[in-house]
Amino acid sequence: MDFRDVTQDLKSDLAKVEKSINENYKSDVPLIPGISSYLMNCGGKRIRPILTLLAAKLCGRDADAMVVKHGCVVEYIHAATLLHDDVVDETTVRRGKETVNAKWGSDASILVGDFLISRAILILAEDCERKIIQAITEATKSLVEGGILEYAEARKIKVNEKHILDVIYRKTASILSVSARIGGLLANATEQQETAITSFGDDFGMAFQLMDDALDYDADEKVLGKPTGTDFKEGHVTLPLHHLYHNADRKLKKEIEVFIKNENINADDVKYIVGHMHQHNSIDYTLNLARYYIDRAKSHLRKADFPEPKYIEYFDAVAEYIHSRHTAPSSTAIEK
Ligand code: FPP
Ligand code: MG
Repeated sequence: MDFRDVTQDLKSDLAKVEKSINENYKSDVPLIPGISSYLMNCGGKRIRPILTLLAAKLCGRDADAMVVKHGCVVEYIHAATLLHDDVVDETTVRRGKETVNAKWGSDASILVGDFLISRAILILAEDCERKIIQAITEATKSLVEGGILEYAEARKIKVNEKHILDVIYRKTASILSVSARIGGLLANATEQQETAITSFGDDFGMAFQLMDDALDYDADEKVLGKPTGTDFKEGHVTLPLHHLYHNADRKLKKEIEVFIKNENINADDVKYIVGHMHQHNSIDYTLNLARYYIDRAKSHLRKADFPEPKYIEYFDAVAEYIHSRHTAPSSTAIEK
């Protein structure tokens, strides 16, 4: 089974999630549905709602209206983070299309992101499930902290690996993990099941961002759907650069120290650094760590008894798909 089989099998459930996504951004302020519709129809593989659907199914609950609307909630929170992140990172292309900030400006991007967050909270308030509201808002708090930490520590080459992994956990793994966890909670998962699903989500999320960080240096832009070298240009010290710096000779170390402070990095600079990353196995180091997290993610689901264990294979396929991003042909490219 591969990712395509998963989406094929979930086709009717994902159609319900899509319907919910497209219905819930209605507003009498025309710019809101205008921008939201552009954003929501720009692609995106709906990884977070897929995790919610699969976790609910694994624990014996079908994709009913309650599960579907929680899939919409996690996708809205994710979309809002991208709207804000693209302003922070001054990104102009995502998913192969112009970003909202490039098309409508930063104000619109921030405000529509705020709208989607508010909408997500309103949907959660309909049921007032304390544990679910708490889990989602904690993950949202964590991802904002991750965004701020990354921004605050930008252009500092001396950050350590622990810090880099902490940022990854907060900004990416937290929301991916809670997307799976709430599927379990909605299906009244036992503590053992909830722990297994959450641990899967944590490790899957780590792998997801590590892949993104490797691809930011080493991917075909057409496949990736966004420009490469963005982290380097923004001075974000992710794992490939950290690894390179720690394995570089004195001359290269000095060059990296100058690059990281430079706000006008060009394509040749990126190419130069990527060449060194290949020489020093910095990309492979990052990909291998992602592989470690994927294998560990998969192992967690084997530690609990589930009512519908056949869905473990679906989780495996989603996890493997993430790692295949490095070599994926354009038709299977995956975006955030
Ligand atoms: C993408 O990472 C960014 C994130 C996953 C989250 C950053 C968080 C914020 C900007 C806070 C916003 C929070 C809310 C709740 C609206 P990346 O820049 O590495 O990925 P990219 O290359 O796809 O942009
Ligand atoms: Mg970004």
